[in-house]
Amino acid sequence: MQSSPKILITGGLGFIFSHVTEYFVAKGWKVVVIDNLSEGSHPEIIDGSFVHHNIHMAEPEVVDLLIKEKPDYIIHAAAISDVDYSIREPYRTIKKNTLGMMHVFEACRSLPELNKFIYVSTDEVYGECEHKMREGEGMAPRNPYSASKGIGSLVRIAYANTYPALAGKTAETRFCNVFGPRQDTRKILPKIKESLEKGTSIPVHNEGTGYREYVYVKNIPPAVELILEKGIGIYNLTTNDGFTVQDLIKKAETVTGKKVATHPSERPGMDMQYQMDASRIKELGWSPLYSFEEGLREYLGSDK
Ligand SMILES: NC(=O)c1ccc[n+]([C@@H]2O[C@H](COP(=O)([O-])OP(=O)(O)OC[C@H]3O[C@@H](n4cnc5c(N)ncnc54)[C@H](O)[C@@H]3O)[C@@H](O)[C@H]2O)c1
Repeated sequence: MQSSPKILITGGLGFIFSHVTEYFVAKGWKVVVIDNLSEGSHPEIIDGSFVHHNIHMAEPEVVDLLIKEKPDYIIHAAAISDVDYSIREPYRTIKKNTLGMMHVFEACRSLPELNKFIYVSTDEVYGECEHKMREGEGMAPRNPYSASKGIGSLVRIAYANTYPALAGKTAETRFCNVFGPRQDTRKILPKIKESLEKGTSIPVHNEGTGYREYVYVKNIPPAVELILEKGIGIYNLTTNDGFTVQDLIKKAETVTGKKVATHPSERPGMDMQYQMDASRIKELGWSPLYSFEEGLREYLGSDK
């Protein structure tokens, strides 16, 4: 009998990848998580069903740890993911995200048996999007967070091209805005949910005119599995449910029948529009399990 695959997930206690960790545990895979329990983490999911290493990805020992674990699959998702924090602390954000990412790439080139490595990136690497961006179009990141993610996108291309151990074995995901259970209140939909539940007023950047696409978090684990199985290169991941923040608030109000209180806020250099073309992942065989509306109803607790 073949033994179950081993997957190592960095940031596997965070909002999005805690769902991925649980997904592969439920499938019977051996799951190893590296996560330093920082912002966004959910230590409450630690229940002995997976191995957890509490270490900062920027520590050089991480390289040996990854090599010693000898996983069949690696996903690198650990990152400082808060744009506003990155604007306040650009040096720290870029340094920590870049060092962590480099340690994973360094380990990967010493793992000849590795089946696949996914580097997790974001739609923000495209910068301002006049049209639905395709994976082959250039990156133009315009804030420190997205610059830190874009560095990894370039390193992936360089390593896959240069080191035979990685040739044909790397992929990158570029998610639009993900929402759902376990997202912390630095992000817009949890802020909306909190306002609906507690009546708190939420800051809305640039009059709520920023346009983003949103995907429900429960759509992510099967997409990741598909890419692990047969993906190569970059995959935009979106269901093309795009709204301004004003429209998003209206949708949440309609779904719940309650009002969201807001006050104005500014984000310097904010990109006004992100939008992507998801043909490539659809051609790979991906279709979402949840529509935006289904996800929103479930998340806001109005799924009667
Ligand atoms: N949330 C989104 O809408 C979105 C969209 C596109 C891409 N992404 C990317 O997806 C990934 C996960 O995002 P998220 O929203 O779930 O983030 P999150 O902030 O909820 O979780 C990040 C996790 O990584 C861990 N972590 C962070 N830095 C670490 C480090 N240096 N060493 C060890 N662990 C560390 C944290 O403890 C946390 O558990 C990130 O790479 C992010 O850039 C997120």
